[in-house]
Formats: sequence, C-alpha cells, structure tokens
Amino acid sequence: MSFGLSRGRPLDVARGVVGVTAEELGPLPDAILTDPSAGWQDPSAWFADPSRPLEIEIGSGKGGFLLKQAALEPAANFLGIERAAEFYAYTADRVRRRGLSNVRVLRADATEFLRWRCPGGIVRVIHLYFSDPWPKKRHHKKRVVQDAFLADAHRVLEPGGELRIVTDHDDYWAWMEEHFARWTSALGWELVAEATERRSDEATKGKKDPATSRDRKEAVPSNPTSRDRKGADPVRVSATAPTETARPLPAGRGSYSGTSSGPFQRLPFEATGSADAGELVGTNFERKYRRKGRPFHACVLKKTR
Ligand SMILES: C[S@@+](CC[C@H](N)C(=O)[O-])C[C@H]1O[C@@H](n2cnc3c(N)ncnc32)[C@H](O)[C@@H]1O
Repeated sequence: MSFGLSRGRPLDVARGVVGVTAEELGPLPDAILTDPSAGWQDPSAWFADPSRPLEIEIGSGKGGFLLKQAALEPAANFLGIERAAEFYAYTADRVRRRGLSNVRVLRADATEFLRWRCPGGIVRVIHLYFSDPWPKKRHHKKRVVQDAFLADAHRVLEPGGELRIVTDHDDYWAWMEEHFARWTSALGWELVAEATERRSDEATKGKKDPATSRDRKEAVPSNPTSRDRKGADPVRVSATAPTETARPLPAGRGSYSGTSSGPFQRLPFEATGSADAGELVGTNFERKYRRKGRPFHACVLKKTR
C-alpha cells in the first residue's frame, strides 16, 4: 500500500549516512545457532560520535518526534527504527534534508532488532509512541508490548534507562497495564530469567532443524541480501517471532509507586521537548488524534537494575 508520502518526488535515504545499510548491520554469524548473543553489536558505532548516549524510537512513522527531539538534543544519538518501507524512506529523507548528524534510521522490525542485534546496557531511552494497537484478539501477538519485548527492553537499557510509552488506544493500554504490573513486581525477575532461556531456545531451534539450508534459513535470523521493490533497505534481523503465555497478575502492583521490587519502576510521563504546549510528544499520530479529541494514556518504565 502506498501512502503517497513522497508526493511524486524521489526520496533519498542517504544510505550509509542516514539510512542504515545491510552492510553496516553486517551478517548474522552462524554462531547465532548456539549463542543468541553472537549477533549483538553496538549501534552507536553507526554515529559520527559513538560516545554519545543512545536513544531508540520504535515505529518512527513520519519522523516528527525524531527530527524535533534530535535537533533539541545534539549531544545524544537517535536511532529511529521503522518497519514500513515508505515511512522509513520518508523519515530518512527528512533527516537528510535537515542535516541532522545525530540521527540514523533503520528499516527493520524493532522487536527483532532488540533481541538479535542489540547488546545489553547501551540504550538510554526507548520511545514507543502510538504503537499499532492490533485490536483483533487473534492479532494481539503482533503488538510490540509483550513480555518478550519488555525483557529485551530491560536488557538493552542502561541502569536507570527508560521505556517511554504513549497510546490513545484503551484496549491496548489495558493490555500494557497488565504487562507493566508484572514487570514492576518481583514476578518480573522470573520473566527476565524465562526470557533468557527462551532466547536460547529460539536460537538453538535452528540447530535441531533438518540441516537443509532452507530449513536453517527459516529457523534462525537471516541476513539482509537484497533490496525490496521500492529500493529501500530491508534489514532482516531475525526470522523468529516471540511467543508468550499469560501469567497471573500480582494483586495491587504496578501503580505509580516511588519504589519497585521488579525490573522496572513505573513513573508518570512528562512531556518531551519535542512537544508543543499541551502535547505529550508531538508526533503525527498525537496531533491527528488530538484534533479528534481522543484522550491519551502514557507512562515511563524506568529500569531499576
Ligand atoms: C501508528 S504508527 C505511529 C507512528 C509515530 N510513532 C507517531 O506517533 O506518529 C506506528 C508505526 O510503527 C511502525 N511499526 C509497527 N511495528 C513496528 C515494529 N515492530 N518495528 C518497527 N516499526 C514498527 C509502523 O510501521 C508505523 O509506522
């Protein structure tokens, strides 16, 4: 589907400067079959100054937040990860035209990128704004917020690092709150341990499969080799999909408490610098829904340790 974002003009993603290329990401080593961390590499190396703190936006859409926030914070690096080719190209082209040297844009599934490509303890903030709600029950597994995702977010964040979330969607928010309750309680530490085990199982699954190249390719994260129809860089970071089983909620946990016995502490959301007066983040979707008078839900999950 085309959203006509380019309005007929060619979009230049500035491969290797703004758009992260398959070559920069590099191939996934065969060792991934036995070691789920074998593909981890620090994305800070893609920036002019790798020593700056790293912030990641998942689903950067048209790039409104990324452009504004990165201009306000030149001493930080911003990696926008966008799955859809057209939005990826649109945002990367905007970044190129603004000449923002502290922003890179990666076309990939961010949840897979975090799992298979991102080492632990390197991200200051993960921004997740107006994530697709997938309202049908049979599609809930496609929602970004899952226990497996929260485990990866917890792993890649620095101590004290933050996952910042805003949504307009009541049902998705209720789903998130159930997850947050687990992750701000002691149960969250069990989920951390389970996620480590599951990551290993997913990686070794490829090893157990028949040793034909086709089966192996399907079972383990695959390497990016070709360009898609629109000429954007499809960076495949994994072929696996997370699965999870529901866990009972600990009663009365997960509210705005000053302390937490779990991997995350839940805090109120404060508007980002990119927001105009009365806004939370100032993304394209926030502005669209604000015009419709929709209420929003927001919070911050801060990594305790
Ligand atoms: C509803 S839009 C919101 C865009 C932007 N954050 C905003 O608030 O205007 C959700 C965006 O997230 C992208 N997206 C959804 N799941 C993703 C994933 N797993 N990895 C990367 N991008 C994803 C979609 O392609 C879409 O552009």
